[in-house]
Amino acid sequence: MKKEKRFIGKVAWITGASSGIGEALVHEFVRRGATVIASSNDLPGLERVKAECEDKSIMVHCIPFDLSDTSGIDKIVEQQVSAHGKIDFLLNIGGISQRARIDETPLWLDRKIFEINYFGTIAITKAVLPFMIRQRSGHILATSSISGRFGFPLRSAYSASKQALHGFFETLYLENKQFNIKASVIIPGRVRTSISFHALDAEGKEHGKLDEGLAKGLSPVKAAEIIINGMIRNKREILVGRKELILLYIRRYCPWLFFRIADKIKAM
Ligand SMILES: NC(=O)c1ccc[n+]([C@@H]2O[C@H](COP(=O)([O-])OP(=O)(O)OC[C@H]3O[C@@H](n4cnc5c(N)ncnc54)[C@H](OP(=O)(O)O)[C@@H]3O)[C@@H](O)[C@H]2O)c1
Repeated sequence: MKKEKRFIGKVAWITGASSGIGEALVHEFVRRGATVIASSNDLPGLERVKAECEDKSIMVHCIPFDLSDTSGIDKIVEQQVSAHGKIDFLLNIGGISQRARIDETPLWLDRKIFEINYFGTIAITKAVLPFMIRQRSGHILATSSISGRFGFPLRSAYSASKQALHGFFETLYLENKQFNIKASVIIPGRVRTSISFHALDAEGKEHGKLDEGLAKGLSPVKAAEIIINGMIRNKREILVGRKELILLYIRRYCPWLFFRIADKIKAM
């Protein structure tokens, strides 16, 4: 693919960049000509993604940090802004899922999932925002899920943490439109990644299985294309998936039918 004028000279910061959707986005931004700051908690994973990028003339900077402990995030953001002069796009992709019933999930686990999915995301967003306000431009994206639009068995804290992102990011958009800052929420249905493998069980251990449904999902490459196209079109919500997305409309316009269907869906 030819580099794209709108991305050349731009700086895109991507969390969750060591795997799945985030990894595919790194490749997509590099292909289009943007400098990438790639973050996750896994430095060797980030370095692998960087080494696999086709175009070696584009800079990929691996900046690891833990979304569940963002106490040092202001400093990391300041260093990146002084290194690159600006951040044009912040794509909050990093996150963790859950496979445990409410009655077996200890409160510390609810908090851990919120720390990663919600507080980790808003911490880096709040650290980047003042620089975007100063530069009077920027686009910040968060990653929700279709279960960020409704409850779903075995995903109580996951669903709640993703629902919280909608409130935050809609407010972010409304408050910062005046500064030419855009905000979008990505809503994936099923994308073929290792999200279910790393999902936390009731003891906080990895679920360790790939869900059947996910195997039938979109490829991460296709998901990355849809996300970038949605970003270019400045969509408030970017839907990523196939027929499972219909659940969003059923939940909204026909809630009784949603509960009937959800009751029958195999949760694992
Ligand atoms: N795949 C789907 O069907 C689907 C559906 C709905 C929503 N989503 C959302 O899409 C996003 C990307 O997920 P994915 O499907 O690409 O899954 P994935 O392949 O498991 O990728 C998750 C990414 O998040 C990072 N991450 C997890 N915990 C972290 C932590 N504590 N600190 C820093 N980074 C952390 C992981 O890096 P580490 O190696 O550092 O852990 C990894 O890079 C997530 O927010 C997920 O909730 C996915």
